[in-house]
Amino acid sequence: MNTPRWLLLPLTAALLLGPAVCSSPAQPAAQPTPSSAQPDATPPALHLGTAWYPEQWPESRWDADLSLMEAAHIRFVRVGEFAWSRFEPSEGHYDLDWLDRAIRAAARHHIAVVIGTPSAAPPAWLTAKYPETLRIKEDGRPDEHGNRQQFNWADPKYRELARAMAEQEAKRFGHDPNVIGWQIDNEYSDLSYGPADKAQFDDWLKARYHTLDNLNTRWTTAYWSETYTDWSQVPIETTYGNPGLLISWKRFVSDTWRSYQKNQLDVIRANADARQFITTNMMGFFDGYDHYTVSQDLDLASWDDYVGTGQLNPISNGAAHDLTRGFLRKNFWVMETQPGFVNWSPDNNSLDKGGVRAMAWQDIGHGADAVSYWQWRSDLNGQEEYHGTLVGADGTPVPLYAEVAQLGKEFAKAGPALAGTTIHSDVAILHSYDAFWAINWQRHNKAFDPIANLVAYYGAIRSITHSVDIVSPSVPLSQYKLVVAPALNLLSDQQAQNLIDYVRNGGHLVLTQRSAMKNEDNGLFTERQPGPLVSLLGGRVEQYYALDSTIPISGAWGTSPTKIWAELLSTSNPDTQVLMRYGKANGWLDNQPAAITRKVGKGRITYIGAALEGPTLAAAAKWMVTDADVHPEFGTLPPGVDLYIRKDATHEVWILINFDEAPQTITLPSAFTNVLDGESNSTTHSITLKRFDVVVLQRPTP
Ligand code: GLA
Repeated sequence: MNTPRWLLLPLTAALLLGPAVCSSPAQPAAQPTPSSAQPDATPPALHLGTAWYPEQWPESRWDADLSLMEAAHIRFVRVGEFAWSRFEPSEGHYDLDWLDRAIRAAARHHIAVVIGTPSAAPPAWLTAKYPETLRIKEDGRPDEHGNRQQFNWADPKYRELARAMAEQEAKRFGHDPNVIGWQIDNEYSDLSYGPADKAQFDDWLKARYHTLDNLNTRWTTAYWSETYTDWSQVPIETTYGNPGLLISWKRFVSDTWRSYQKNQLDVIRANADARQFITTNMMGFFDGYDHYTVSQDLDLASWDDYVGTGQLNPISNGAAHDLTRGFLRKNFWVMETQPGFVNWSPDNNSLDKGGVRAMAWQDIGHGADAVSYWQWRSDLNGQEEYHGTLVGADGTPVPLYAEVAQLGKEFAKAGPALAGTTIHSDVAILHSYDAFWAINWQRHNKAFDPIANLVAYYGAIRSITHSVDIVSPSVPLSQYKLVVAPALNLLSDQQAQNLIDYVRNGGHLVLTQRSAMKNEDNGLFTERQPGPLVSLLGGRVEQYYALDSTIPISGAWGTSPTKIWAELLSTSNPDTQVLMRYGKANGWLDNQPAAITRKVGKGRITYIGAALEGPTLAAAAKWMVTDADVHPEFGTLPPGVDLYIRKDATHEVWILINFDEAPQTITLPSAFTNVLDGESNSTTHSITLKRFDVVVLQRPTP
């Protein structure tokens, strides 16, 4: 057997401190020193964690693993989320003693515990005895044991058994001082399409529409003779059904995940200390259900942040963070992230050296208070043998361990400065599952990707403001100076009124292509776009065109080619100005308005009908930010450098990361204390960052 790499390498100062000004990626792996580790006695402000599966290992090994975690400053483990067959080896016979011992062992190493409820992986005896708990796949066949997520999220028996399991866990550990929180299930995703699920969908439709006449009218079922005379005739459709049916199924799915979650959440809440949070781990822009619906009962939003193939894209990953922060509009956790590489992507390359640490600091910069690696040690068998870990199958650290240990040290150091700080944004981007589902069912041009479109606006604005919130159009908006709604295709009456009130109260609203076309039932408004906002805008979309070629646009934001989608705009109010026009195009669009705007009292509403990219998108973003009187705390950053600002009433913390290959220098607007800079808190005005360098700076709120 080869000598473990970490045993061959000298203990370096790399884990102790970075260079004087900025802190660099980890140097060669350092030997862990479990016996000499001196963790803080107080709970950390920044939580570094890992997914640990003690049920897979002999208890005699636990201490060695926990020692290695402690040496890397890992402060929590997430356990139990797939351990149902160990918790309940046969029906009604529970064994939680081993988890108790694992929690006690973790406590001895100053490692707190987040407990998962194991409902994502039911035991074989359960699905064999109660076959109705297996989900029915879309092709009509039941799922089977051997993978995970084979359960039926709507099935009453499954819910009864999952709740009983969660209750046992909560009664045993709900007051355990070393348990800090709960994760319900794991990555809700797979659905069931059987007759019992269909019957529940019928009940859901009855509760929403009350009468079939109402449903038939709102779905325009006279079209193609779709008229229903009995609830049971309504099918389940997921891709090419009536738009009213499609969106109803998605809402049923979302409500059913919410009630599935609440079934376990209520029994945990009834048995647990209030200090123990309850969350579930979500998946960024995954759109299998409406996350605003499902989040509302949780204490904390969390998500699993994986890059897969390639290296981190700070813009799209940043947008996914800000989306998650928007679910409950507060700080969140990264419950899983990749230790170097995954096993499920087409190419499972590793993040380059230093990239894991930079990614973790990006998480914190966007408002995460925890970063947790999936997983600690390679499973000896199972579907994920190749996945990245911090410790190999041999039980010794892999090369990445040192980088994570450096991070742990930094989290401990920066924790006090970041404790209680949050993100403040003057700009919100609106995101709606309804709207994006509606577009994805009828893209009209296959290249129109609503998430890519949102991320493009997000990136252009964030590069100026260094902070953007992503929130639902249903939430109060008065705190924002600028609200941008990329492709907000579908609007409820409440949301339309929310936007109108926002503008009338002095906000600047920017609607972009395909916005406000459809009502709550995914049917067309009887007014052209932007539907209920036409009179406020003093203009409208005369016609939309899916483009098969590139056409020019020019005006206030410069000149550039545009493609994919174009809306021919008109003005009907003398106050409404044309900002951009199409050039020579398809005849219909030639010289017609492509972007219009109207000032309404102190507010403003703008509609952008063309796809903006590159310099025109940058100029439009600049125009919006300036017109809305947003004053970013810092000017333009060098390419590849990201700035994140977290603050409380008295101080603010700036995190700067360079994701560019080339070193970049930034001159700061005032003196800061360098939080990671050794014991000596220095002040600095100018910093140079190499690729993946991270600097954490602090100053009193100006
Ligand atoms: C998901 C799951 C984990 C694990 C990882 C692997 O996030 O929640 O259990 O399978 O993927 O990347």
